[in-house]
Amino acid sequence: MELKLLQLLLFLCMKISVSGVGAATEVRRIEREKQALLKFSGDLSGLRWGSEEDKGECCEWLGVECDFTGHVVSINLSDEDLRGKISPALLSDLSSLKVLDFSGNNLRNLTNWLQPISKLSSLTALLLSRCQLHDSVSAFDVFANSSLSNLSTLILSHNNLTSVSTFDSLFNFCRNLTRLDLSYNQLNGPIPGSFFKLQFVEVLDLKGNLLHGGIHKPLNLSHLQFLDISFNKLNVPLPHLFENLSEIISLQRIYLSNNQLVGSLPDISRFSSLKELYLSNNQLEGVQPQSLDQPSSLESLDLSYNQISGSLLDFGGFSSLYDLDLSGNQLKKLPKAIEQLYNITNLNLSSTSLEGTITEHHFSNLTQLRYLDLSFNNVSFNLRFDWIPTFQLEMLRLSHCNMGPYFPNWIRKQNSLLSLYLSFAGISSTIPDWLWNMSSIQHLDLSHNNISGRIPHFPTNLDFVDLSYNNLSGPIPLSVFQNSSALILSENLLSGSIFNLCTISEKFFIQTLILPNNELDGELPNCWMNFYSLVYLNLANNKFSGKLPPTLGTLTSLAILHLGNNNFIGELPSSLKNCKGLRKLDVGGNKLTGTIPSWIGTHLIFLEVLSLRFNSFHGSIPPTICYLINIHVLDLSRNIISGKIPRCLNNFTFLVSNDGSSVLNYYRLWSFIWETMDEDDNALVQWKRQESEYKRLRNLEGIDLSSNKLVGTIPQAFSDLRALLFINLSRNHLTGNIISSIGQLDTLEWLDLSRNQLSGEIPNSLANLHFLSVLDLSYNNLMGKIPLGTQLQSFDSSTYIGNSQLCGEPLVKCPHDPSVDDHGKIDVVKEDDRFINRDFYICMVFGFITGFWIVVGTLVLKHSWRHSYFKFLNDIGDWIYVTTTMYVTRLKRKVMS
Ligand SMILES: *[C@@H]1O[C@H](CO)[C@@H](O)[C@H](O)[C@H]1NC(C)=O
Ligand SMILES: *[C@@H]1O[C@H](CO)[C@@H](O)[C@H](O)[C@H]1NC(C)=O
Ligand SMILES: *[C@@H]1O[C@H](CO)[C@@H](O)[C@H](O)[C@H]1NC(C)=O
Ligand SMILES: *[C@@H]1O[C@H](CO)[C@@H](O)[C@H](O)[C@H]1NC(C)=O
Ligand SMILES: *[C@@H]1O[C@H](CO)[C@@H](O)[C@H](O)[C@H]1NC(C)=O
Ligand SMILES: *[C@@H]1O[C@H](CO)[C@@H](O)[C@H](O)[C@H]1NC(C)=O
Ligand SMILES: *[C@@H]1O[C@H](CO)[C@@H](O)[C@H](O)[C@H]1NC(C)=O
Ligand SMILES: *[C@@H]1O[C@H](CO)[C@@H](O)[C@H](O)[C@H]1NC(C)=O
Ligand SMILES: *[C@@H]1O[C@H](CO)[C@@H](O)[C@H](O)[C@H]1NC(C)=O
Repeated sequence: MELKLLQLLLFLCMKISVSGVGAATEVRRIEREKQALLKFSGDLSGLRWGSEEDKGECCEWLGVECDFTGHVVSINLSDEDLRGKISPALLSDLSSLKVLDFSGNNLRNLTNWLQPISKLSSLTALLLSRCQLHDSVSAFDVFANSSLSNLSTLILSHNNLTSVSTFDSLFNFCRNLTRLDLSYNQLNGPIPGSFFKLQFVEVLDLKGNLLHGGIHKPLNLSHLQFLDISFNKLNVPLPHLFENLSEIISLQRIYLSNNQLVGSLPDISRFSSLKELYLSNNQLEGVQPQSLDQPSSLESLDLSYNQISGSLLDFGGFSSLYDLDLSGNQLKKLPKAIEQLYNITNLNLSSTSLEGTITEHHFSNLTQLRYLDLSFNNVSFNLRFDWIPTFQLEMLRLSHCNMGPYFPNWIRKQNSLLSLYLSFAGISSTIPDWLWNMSSIQHLDLSHNNISGRIPHFPTNLDFVDLSYNNLSGPIPLSVFQNSSALILSENLLSGSIFNLCTISEKFFIQTLILPNNELDGELPNCWMNFYSLVYLNLANNKFSGKLPPTLGTLTSLAILHLGNNNFIGELPSSLKNCKGLRKLDVGGNKLTGTIPSWIGTHLIFLEVLSLRFNSFHGSIPPTICYLINIHVLDLSRNIISGKIPRCLNNFTFLVSNDGSSVLNYYRLWSFIWETMDEDDNALVQWKRQESEYKRLRNLEGIDLSSNKLVGTIPQAFSDLRALLFINLSRNHLTGNIISSIGQLDTLEWLDLSRNQLSGEIPNSLANLHFLSVLDLSYNNLMGKIPLGTQLQSFDSSTYIGNSQLCGEPLVKCPHDPSVDDHGKIDVVKEDDRFINRDFYICMVFGFITGFWIVVGTLVLKHSWRHSYFKFLNDIGDWIYVTTTMYVTRLKRKVMS
């Protein structure tokens, strides 16, 4: 059956080809190629050539390309998971093959791949990235006897090659290479002289290796145009490095960012073709004076994040620059030569400790400016009110500059402006009407000023709007919701209702809606299905009322839901169980009733923060709460919850492990992101006292069950929650002893067990908690002597008050105190087997970290600065979305299997 099919296909192929070409020898050759392909696929698994879906001409088979005469010229089998063997005779029959792409296949699964490939005499491009290649000198020696004399492109990126000398024989042979890509391997040591042999190479990419030292001897590659050694460990003085490159007059682009280069930028006028020089994130200290006056052809210079200090007096030699990034240095004074950058388009001087006043004069010759970033400097502006700049900006970033008190009027005529960032700029006027009419603007950040007035009904192209931390008042016009993907209006005086949102029947694309700390009121609309993209919804600290609308449950992408401190009534809608990606759920400080739904544990399994505090929830804590293995903060305080505390708390894996460093790292990254997204968020968990002081603890690990009607004893499981920073069980009806193993919680800073009916002695181990700064054991039935230890004695006597049988410092002396022989009785702490689901959970966290870095890692690697600015917020949003989805699917798969 299969054979028949293959014959049929072969017949078809031949027929089509024959009709195109006449000569009999050609036909034979083409036929040989087809047979080679079929045989090739027959020896491999993972390839479906000739299968039912691929009935057409074989030139249309997956990854196969032919030229107009019907000869196979390109085979692209990237990411096909090939396995099996390539028989030597086969590939040599493909006599016209020019391009072979095996990227993303594990070549260890392909026996004998190199020999046949080395016979492809017409090959010009060989792509073997992500093939798990490792050093095996003999493998590359095969090239030495190969027929690849016309090979011009060799891509070996993302493999595991460590030694540059591996390629010695390769370089001997493939001398006609014009493009060699060895990026993202583990190449080590200095760049050897053997690169010499690549006389014709034009592009040499060594990015992302471990190369250190410098370049062994002068490279004289007369055709080299692009050299990328960024993200390595080069640690020589830059002038030395350039010495060994300086003969290469064809060099147009040199990328050396993210190394450990020292010294200063030498005279680069010898590189007469140089257009781009990227040196960011090194340890360079300045620019050598002689490099200043020599005219260079440089168009793009990135010296950001080095240690260049003082003013760069003049760089008249760089007047051809289009692109200059000096951010993250310590310039102090605006370089005088800025005025002579006649062609500058992108200018980034952010975070350069600039001081002084900026005047029109500085910009008068910069007619080409498009992107200007002066943010995070201590500069002020002295510009005429009616100044009309000679440039038309697309992006303007002046955050943390002193712009105020009036809104800068010259922006008015910037008709191409896409992004405007004026946060922390000391503006205290109203927003001028012309700004709302600037239809080009898509990103607008005016947060942290003193801006007053109303938000008008503006026609919006605005995609990102941040007006938070101002004095804006009046209602929020519906139009602002319409095109935004992020709307941040927190900490203003906005009032009125958003109920009429449902009158707009269309869908919204908004992902981030942040409105807390305003005076908004009325019921929430029940049309949240129109907001299906929402990832982050924060309506906290307003005056919203009524029931929580059931359609909130249609927000399946939601990761953060803050509805705290409003006047909501009724029960948590059970539809919320569909919001399976929720990580933070805060409905504290409302008038919600009903029992704590057990689906919180079974459905919202990614919850990290759950706050139901200060509502009227009753009934007992459902045992399913223990399924929340990611929980950091569990706050059920100030409700009417009765029954016992679940015994299974040691299921809270995050709280259990304070030793898993991967977990901690993960958590730090995670909380970093929350911090950036969550700036406007009030402390979620509030403590009885010293609230402000303990704000820094927010998002950290703790359990607050205070002010309920809980009975029974304190579960032993608490002592397994090693990462706990606070426990508040006060104002309940708990009985029994304080668990003696409490001394295991060695990171604990806050322990409040006051106003219960706890009895027995205070365990000695409590004296071991060295970080404990708040302790309240008052109003219980504790007895005996307060254990000795500097810590416990340093607390105020109010810590222990209301326990009539308690004695010793700081309370009254015990009646028959035999002084200090109480010490032999220190509790021996036993290690328990604490990890119930350890593997399961480590896998998940690991997967999550990987996902995290796929997205966030790309942010950290510095792209061209203008792109990253534009994309930053989008990426954060995407990241949440991506990771959420990924996380959920992964877990689903895990649960299914
Ligand atoms: C091979 O195919 C992949 C995926 O379609 C593509 O990204 C890659 O550029 C192709 N390779 C060549 C050499 O065209
Ligand atoms: C093929 O490669 C994969 C990795 O991509 C590896 O897990 C697997 O063991 C290999 N299979 C064989 C048969 O070598
Ligand atoms: C190598 O390239 C040259 C020039 O393009 C060509 O004439 C020659 O036939 C090629 N060699 C092989 C073996 O294909
Ligand atoms: C290359 O060919 C020569 C002679 O043709 C042979 O002696 C040598 O072993 C071959 N080298 C490799 C690595 O195949
Ligand atoms: C380079 O290519 C030319 C043809 O383009 C060929 O004659 C020559 O042998 C090649 N050199 C090497 C070292 O392969
Ligand atoms: C890469 O090579 C190094 C050193 O040979 C080895 O320690 C490491 O495990 C390899 N990594 C992979 C992914 O093969
Ligand atoms: C500015 O750009 C123009 C057009 O690209 C070019 O002709 C001129 O030489 C440049 N000026 C300097 C100083 O490089
Ligand atoms: C602007 O350029 C002209 C020459 O083109 C020069 O004379 C003048 O000084 C420049 N202005 C500033 C402020 O540098
Ligand atoms: C701990 O959580 C898992 C699911 O995450 C659940 O299957 C298990 O029953 C829980 N253990 C207890 C004691 O609740």
